[in-house]
Amino acid sequence: MLKRILLIYGEAIRRIDSKEDLPPEPLADSAKIIRDFIEDYHEKLEENFLFPRFKEANKLVDLVDVLLQQHQAGRRLTDITMHLATNQALKNADDRRKLVDSMRQFIRMYNPHEAREDTILCPAFRGIVSAHEFDSLGEDFEKKEDELFGEDGFFKVVDRVAEIEKRLGIYDLAQFTPKT
Ligand SMILES: [Fe+2]
Repeated sequence: MLKRILLIYGEAIRRIDSKEDLPPEPLADSAKIIRDFIEDYHEKLEENFLFPRFKEANKLVDLVDVLLQQHQAGRRLTDITMHLATNQALKNADDRRKLVDSMRQFIRMYNPHEAREDTILCPAFRGIVSAHEFDSLGEDFEKKEDELFGEDGFFKVVDRVAEIEKRLGIYDLAQFTPKT
């Protein structure tokens, strides 16, 4: 999900840079998905259930500190992006520059952030909790997801992301295959 929003932000930046039309709604909706699904849900789980266990086990402590700081920095950037994803701001050169800056910084931080979590943090997590605890945490997370986003909540958010991609012309996957 995060990766797909990063691609949407990339397209938004490209459109602003090349002075193409950019409707504010898909951008506002993207930032809202980041806020609700990534920051207020997914990252909260990392912060409440993963990071403290690494600290207790005294493993990857420096990495966990940086990841937490990045979550906090990400929230500040999303505040800016949400605030500037409006018609009025998009018409103002100064605001456009601030908006592009906040999306650029977000992409620049979250690509390595996610890559490090996927390849270092998450695999190491299995080593510091028992198989039983790992499974029961997984179930807790699913329950929380249903609570917050309803049954099949994940798929509904994916559908919203797809709608945004369609609106911005980046949904069709085959367009990215090199022509031979
Ligand atoms: Fe994270």
